[in-house]
This record gives sequence, C-alpha cells and structure tokens, in this order.
Amino acid sequence: MTSHAPKESWNSRLGIILAVAGSAVGLGNFLRFPGQAAQYGGGAFMIAYFVALIIIGLPICWAEWAIGRKGGQAGFNSSPGILGFVTGQKRFRYLGVIGVVIPVVIYMYYVYIEAWCLGYAVNFARGSMNFEAVKDASAFWQGFIGIAENGSALGFGWTRVGGFLVIVFTLNFFLIYRGLSKGIELFCKYAMPTLLVLAVIILIRVLTLGAPVAEHPENSVYNGLGFMWNPNKAVLHELVADEAGGSEKWIPLADGEMVGPRMIKAAEERAAADPKLELRILTMWSQLANPQLWLAAAGQIFFSLSVGFGVIITYSSYLKKKDDVVLSGLAATSTNEFCEVTLGGLTTLPAGYAFLGVAGVAGMGTFGLGFNVLPMVFSEMPGGQFFGFAFFFLLFLAAVTSSLSMLQPGIAFLEEALNINRKQSVAFLGFLTAAGCAFVVYFSADVKALDTIDFWVTNLLMVVLATVQIIVFGWVIGIDRGFEIAHRGAAIRIPSIFKFIMKWLSPAFLIIIFGAWVYNGVLGFSFTGGERSYSAYIKDLFIEPNAVAWYSVGLIALTTGLIVLLTACGNFEKTSSKESSK
Ligand code: ALA
Repeated sequence: MTSHAPKESWNSRLGIILAVAGSAVGLGNFLRFPGQAAQYGGGAFMIAYFVALIIIGLPICWAEWAIGRKGGQAGFNSSPGILGFVTGQKRFRYLGVIGVVIPVVIYMYYVYIEAWCLGYAVNFARGSMNFEAVKDASAFWQGFIGIAENGSALGFGWTRVGGFLVIVFTLNFFLIYRGLSKGIELFCKYAMPTLLVLAVIILIRVLTLGAPVAEHPENSVYNGLGFMWNPNKAVLHELVADEAGGSEKWIPLADGEMVGPRMIKAAEERAAADPKLELRILTMWSQLANPQLWLAAAGQIFFSLSVGFGVIITYSSYLKKKDDVVLSGLAATSTNEFCEVTLGGLTTLPAGYAFLGVAGVAGMGTFGLGFNVLPMVFSEMPGGQFFGFAFFFLLFLAAVTSSLSMLQPGIAFLEEALNINRKQSVAFLGFLTAAGCAFVVYFSADVKALDTIDFWVTNLLMVVLATVQIIVFGWVIGIDRGFEIAHRGAAIRIPSIFKFIMKWLSPAFLIIIFGAWVYNGVLGFSFTGGERSYSAYIKDLFIEPNAVAWYSVGLIALTTGLIVLLTACGNFEKTSSKESSK
C-alpha cells in the first residue's frame, strides 16, 4: 500500500467483538424491532424473523467477516478495494461502492435520531418530561424535531434538537479521529457493558410493573409479554358505507386488534350481538403467506445485524491473518439477538401494553412507539424520570456505537482512494456527512427526507450489497474455498449444512425477497390479487411528484456518483495487481 495512513488494527479479540456487536446493537434493537413486531402483530413475524436470521443474517455475516479479513491481508480496508481484490475483478470494485454509500448515507439521518435520544435523556434527567397522554408526548416530539414545517427543526434550547445534534456529531467525529483502537474500540468497551446494565435495570422495572392502571387490570405487563409471540391475530372489523356511495365494506376497527383468549372471547360476543361487527381471525399460516411480512423480517435482520451495510467487511479487514472470524461473528450476532429479542422485545412492548393495552401498541411504527408511546409510559411509571433517562441514554449509547461503525467505511475508503491521512479523511467525510445531515434536518416536515432516504437505502441498496457479498463468497471465490478461508484460525467450525445454505438458499432467498419488493413495493401489484396500488414512495416520485422526495433520491445518487468517481480515480489498481488474490 502507498497510503500515508499508518496501518491500524484492533487491540484485542474482545475489543473487535464488542465493536462489531456495538455496530449491530443500536436503535434497530430497542426501537425498530419492537416497532416491526407491533406492526406485524407478533408470532408470525417472529417466525419469519428467525428464518431470515438463519438463512441470510448469520451466513452473510460470516461471509463479510471472511472476505473482509482476506482483503485486509492485502492492505485493503474499503469495500471497493476488498471486493476488487478478493474477486480479482475490477467490476466488483464498482459493486463495492455500495458498501461505502450505505453507511455514509445512513449516518446522515441516523445521527439525527441519535440526537433525539440524547435530547430525550437530558430532558428526562431535568425532570421536564411529564406526559399524561400519548398525544402530549407526541406534541413534544413534533416540536422537538420540527415535524410541522421544513426548517423548523433547526432550533436550540432544551426542547429543540439543534444543540444535541451538534454534540453528537462532534462526539462521533472526535472518536473517529482518535482511530480504530483508541476511538471506536475504547468507546465500545465502556459503552457496551454500560448499556447492557441499563437495559437489565429497565427490564426489571418493566417486569415488576404488574397492572399499573387500576381501571384496566387486563392491561398487565404479563399479558403484554405474550403480545410478541401471539400466533393468531384477531381483528374486529366494522361494516361501513363506502364513501363513494357504492356498496358497504368491512374495515378493521382502529382499536380492533385482540390479544389472548379472554379478549378474543369478549370480542366474539360483541360481534355476535352486532351485525355490523365481525371478528376475523388471521391464523399464523395466513399471516406467513404474506410476502410483506417476510420483507419486513429480512429488512429487520439486515438493519439490526449491520449485515449488508458495508460495515463488517471494513471492521474485519483490520484483523490479523489468523484471528478467528467464525466464533467472533457468532458471538457478535448472539449479543445482538440477546439485546434485540430479550432486552428490546421484553421491555418496550410489554411496557406500552401495561399502560395502554393492545390498542396502544398494535400497529405502532418505530417512531410512534419510541418517541410517543414510551415517553408517556415512562413519565407515568413510578420512578419514571430516572427510568426514562436510563432508557434514552441507553438508546443514545447504542446509537453512538452504531454510527461510529458507519463512519469507518467512509474513512477507510477516502484514505485508500485518495491516499490521504486520517486528518484529511475525517475533514472530508465530516464535510460530506454534515451537508447530508443538514439536508435531512432542514427537510423535517413529516420527516420526509429521512423516511425517503431510509426506504431506498434499506430496501434497495442493502439487499443488493448483501446479494453481491454472498455471491462473491459462494460462487466467485467458491463455497469450498470460501469455507477454507473462513476457517483459518477459527475457534469453532461452521456446520456443513451452511455450505448449502450459503451457496443456494441465501442467494435464492435474497432474489425472491428482492423480486417481491419490486413487484409490490415498486410496481404496486398486490400480493392478494387486489387492485394495483403504488406505495407512497413511488407516488412521491412519479405519480404526484414531491420535491423533497426527489431531492432525497438525488442526495443518494450524488453521493454514489462521488464515490464512483473517487473509485475510478483511486489508487486501487497498483495494489491489486501487485498482490494476487489467488
Ligand atoms: N445495526 C444498527 C442498529 O440496529 C444500525 O441500529
């Protein structure tokens, strides 16, 4: 390598596991996961989720660790450099560009949400978060992030996001500037245990809540615990006249989702007494027949594990030749799953359920649950100001360890492509991400910019990158050689069934979910044979064009163009021709 940057490496094996686990454990675990489980209604989602973990999560994670370590041995730390080197083909360098675009672009909005978490923690600590109803918490959130009008998020003071954003942005770049082991690794070594302790304290508080609302003894935390695993979904529908004056139709009642035998029985009795009400039972199998559920589960696995992000490939490139990747990958994945399913799943949903019942959590999205329902729930529970502070501070720590991992791929890429030192790469990336983040924050109305960027990056780019990586591992390098590379220095063996999974099932699964997404999410065809209906994101671009949606897609395109250009002018050729991958 001709780079000016000194070769960096991790300090210890525990350090790298904590750094990768830190990258994985983030807002996805404590907010996005419960939000998705609530939206898709429990048990069926959990089945699709665990299938996706085994078929794509773990396999792609191992593939990324192995490919990254191999590229690192030849001095490459960026996804274009690594993929170009391990395949020996220049075109893979350009596919590797996606592995830089994803983390850089996600950072632009992730750091903004990180600032919300810090802001909420500070406001709980100040004792100023007292909400009696979800709508009060929602009003606070809307003002805090400027949801009403573009430009209105850019305020300072305790109840505005501006100052917190400056703090978190500076903290991230300060730590990244300190480098891999003195910045990322050191921070993760303290932050990860701290957040685990906080999560356990909150878990104990939630599990001992009982039934906190005297008038609603059925809303106990114990009933809430079952919500995530509830196999059948029972939804009360009402017969209403069609607005257009046509025939009547059945629509689900806003608070019509029923959980548990007692509620279902009561709803059945209600429906029997009223001809305009009907209780429809969606069995687990009929829920699993919905491709949308599988798309959501796969998307959650990617987001949560930071797989298909371009992060693990860069982190593992700093390993030494014989450092284990198999057990380390498994350890980081298990830590993530423990934090997600156990700590995330057992706290947020049951806590919301205990105070608000099923109507309070069913169908709630990530932000609704995290920044509207939970702040109200915390402010109402005994000791709530402390537990609210602890929860949002834990989210903040989890988010920092993830956002740091989104910066390192960009830093490694700039150092490699432009042959510049860390100070210069930090300045370059700081400027680029600050501009992108300012865009997201400015276009705050209805969180439109954030939402649009998140949709295209997580549904399109992450699936494409994951597919490229697993094809490189299973087909270009070859599954037998890939396994041999992965097992160098490994403390345990990957079961051989994974050869079949990684070569055939993972790519097939990815191609099917991608096809399903294009069919439904882009072309608007219905999975259930109903009319064609375009998603809001497609409408925003082509049917009722929306300027902010177009600018947001433009921001992704511009960042991609810049990284492609730097890759084309970059310094990868010399090294990759000098060192053979074969
Ligand atoms: N994996 C990170 C999270 O879950 C991005 O938030």
